Amino acid sequence: MEQYIIKGGSPLVGEVEIGGAKNAALAILAAAIMTDDTVLIDNLPDVNDINVMLEAISGIGATVQRIDRHTVKINGTGIHDLNIEYDYIKKIRASYYLLGALLGKYKRSEVALPGGCNIGSRPIDQHLKGFRALGAEVDIDHGKIVAEAEHLLGTHLYFDVVTVGATINVMMAAAMADGTTIMENVAKEPHVVDVANFLNSMGANIRGAGTDVIKIKGVKSLHKTEYSIIPDQIEAGTFMFAAAATQGDVTVLNVIPKHLEATISKLVDIGCEVEEFDDAVRVVAKRRLKNTQVKTLPYPGYPTDMQPQIGVALALSRGTSTITESIFENRFKYLDELARMGAVIKVEGSSATIEGVERLSGARVSAPDLRAGAALCIAGLAADGITIVDDIVYIQRGYERFEEKLRDIGGLIERVSSEKDIQKFRLKVS
Ligand code: UD1
Repeated sequence: MEQYIIKGGSPLVGEVEIGGAKNAALAILAAAIMTDDTVLIDNLPDVNDINVMLEAISGIGATVQRIDRHTVKINGTGIHDLNIEYDYIKKIRASYYLLGALLGKYKRSEVALPGGCNIGSRPIDQHLKGFRALGAEVDIDHGKIVAEAEHLLGTHLYFDVVTVGATINVMMAAAMADGTTIMENVAKEPHVVDVANFLNSMGANIRGAGTDVIKIKGVKSLHKTEYSIIPDQIEAGTFMFAAAATQGDVTVLNVIPKHLEATISKLVDIGCEVEEFDDAVRVVAKRRLKNTQVKTLPYPGYPTDMQPQIGVALALSRGTSTITESIFENRFKYLDELARMGAVIKVEGSSATIEGVERLSGARVSAPDLRAGAALCIAGLAADGITIVDDIVYIQRGYERFEEKLRDIGGLIERVSSEKDIQKFRLKVS
C-alpha cells in the first residue's frame, strides 16, 4: 500500500501547471462514442479515473488510441456491447455517463447501478427522471439500470435538484432525440458547459449551457471533432489553498480565472493576496489567515469539491469559522483526521465549527476520499513535523503527478511503500 510522507512547515513557493478537468473529461470521453467518426481529445488529465473510463469504453468495443499522456483518439464504430460491467461502475461512478451516451446513440443501454460512495448517498433519480421524460423505459433489473426507447422524443423537463451528473447525462441523450428538449433548473458548472461545447463541436445543437435553462434540438447523427478539455478548477483551487495554508506564494498556470471566482473570493476573505492574469492566478499568504463562514453550493457558489481544502486553511486561521456542507452529507470525515493533527473542530449535522489554532502537528492520517485526501496533504505540508497519509489511492484517482507538482513548489513530500522508504525520507529531511 502506498502512502505519502510529508515534512511540513515550509511555505510553498513557485508555479504549478494545471491539467485538464477530470470531471469534464469523464463525461466527454463517454460522449465521444456517440459518433462513428474518430474523435481526438486533448488536455486529458492522466489520472486513474480517466484510465478506468477509457477501459470501460474499450471494454464495450470502442477503439481507444492513446496518442500521448494527454491525448486520445476514440472511435465508437465497433461498439458491440451496450452493457457496462459492474467492475467499472464500482471503480468510477461517472461511468453512468455511458447510460446517456449509449441511450442517445443506440436507444438502449445497460449500466450496473452505481454503488454507494463515501461522500454521502448519491441518488440517480434525476438521471432516470430525465431519460423517462425523453420517452425511454427505464427499469432496474438485477442491480442494473436498463434504459430503452423506440424513439427518444424531445421534452420539457424540470430537475427537482440541481445536479451536474443528471444535467450532463440527460443532455447527452437529448442531443440525439427527435425534436427539442428544454431542461430547467440545470447545473451551471464549467464542465456542463464544456460537455455542451464538445457535443456542439460534433454537430449537436445545444444552447444555454451555463445558465439555468438548456435547450437542445436533437440531431440524427454526430460527427468527428478535435477538442481540448478545460482546465481543472478543483486542481487549481487545491494548489491555491496549499499556498494559503503554508503561508506561501503560488501561481497556478493554465487556468480560467472566471471559473475560480468563488475560491478566489474566499481566499481574499481569509486574508490572502490574489492576483489574476489572463490564464493564471497568483495566491500570496503573507500573514496568519483570518476566519470566515463558507457554505458549499452549486456553481457559481463555493464548490463542495473545495470544502476540505478550505477546512484545512481555516483550522490554521485566527478565530472561529463555520463550514456548511449543503451538497453531500458525508463530507466531514477528514475533520476527524485533522483533529488528530491538533485542529479544534465540532461537527453538528451539516455544519462544522472550527476554532483556528496556530499550528498543526504531523500525524498519521488516512484519506477518506479524493478531495479530502488532497486536503490532508496540504495539512501535512503546513504542519510541524512528519505526516503520513494512508489510502492515497483516492488522491491518485483525480490528481496527476500530485506529489511531483508539490515538490516543484518546495513541498517535502514523497510517495512511499515500505518502512525502509519512510526511514530514508526521515533521514533525508532531518
Ligand atoms: C459531480 C462531481 C463531484 C462533485 C459534484 C457536485 C463528477 C464525476 N463528480 O458529482 O466531484 O462533488 O458534481 O459538484 O463530475 N442528486 C439527487 N438525485 C440525482 C442526482 C443528484 O438527489 O439524480 C443530488 C446529490 O445527492 C447531491 C446533489 O444532487 O446532493 C448534487 O449532485 P450532483 O451534482 O449530481 O453530483 P455528481 O454529478 O454525482
